[in-house]
Amino acid sequence: MNPSRKPLIAGNWKMNLGGLAGLELAMRVKSLAPQVPGVDLLVAPPFTAIAAVAHELDGTGVFVAAQNLHQQPSGAFTGEISAPMLVESGATWVIVGHSERRQFFGETDAGVDAKIRAATAASLTPIVCVGESLAEREAGRTLEVVGAQLAAVLDAIEGADGAAVAYEPVWAIGTGKNASPGDAEAVHCAIRGWLAARSEALARTTRVLYGGSLKPDNAAALLAQSNIDGGLIGGASLDIASFGAIASAAFAHARNN
Ligand code: 13P
Repeated sequence: MNPSRKPLIAGNWKMNLGGLAGLELAMRVKSLAPQVPGVDLLVAPPFTAIAAVAHELDGTGVFVAAQNLHQQPSGAFTGEISAPMLVESGATWVIVGHSERRQFFGETDAGVDAKIRAATAASLTPIVCVGESLAEREAGRTLEVVGAQLAAVLDAIEGADGAAVAYEPVWAIGTGKNASPGDAEAVHCAIRGWLAARSEALARTTRVLYGGSLKPDNAAALLAQSNIDGGLIGGASLDIASFGAIASAAFAHARNN
């Protein structure tokens, strides 16, 4: 982490905790927040829990994100949720382009671009996910793939005040195999460079999060890297002890630097 950027520890609950259990976890995150001052906390519940979670976390400083959105503001799109609806529900952030959306729901770079713009138009702050597959990494194409994903949405990111980027190597998601701190930092450093090529201010202010089997036992080493500004956490965010331990690692690092 770099002291000029406030750490962001974000929990992506994925398709879990959509009801009362989500509200209960939100209550625990509410209690955690005062213990990690100087660290931004964010939770991304399923759509069905957003309103209750946002109500519970109102005034605590903990951000609430959706995990996806549709790019149109309204209309005949059965089963979809728009950016203005998310705002009405109490979300202020939204995850866009998660690899599970790209992999299982056919999301393309063009679709991700449209969603970032729709979020921005509704004043939702996007967390834009990028990352390579195992085959791409093994073929030595990591930077090419991540660079192309970022280039496709860089204009939209520049237009979205405070957007974050999440580097999530697909092979590390839910597998228990995290990227080594050095390998992660190499990609984060490249992302910082691509942002800087667009604008120094963009590079200086954009938080680049690491995601992929981030756990209490690897958090300190990953968060110590100078271009890793926080985490986007799946499995470990469902348990308050693990999520709290990762947030505490960010707090300890920020306090000592
Ligand atoms: P895990 O932390 O479960 O690997 O998930 C990472 C992720 O996809 C967060 O968006």
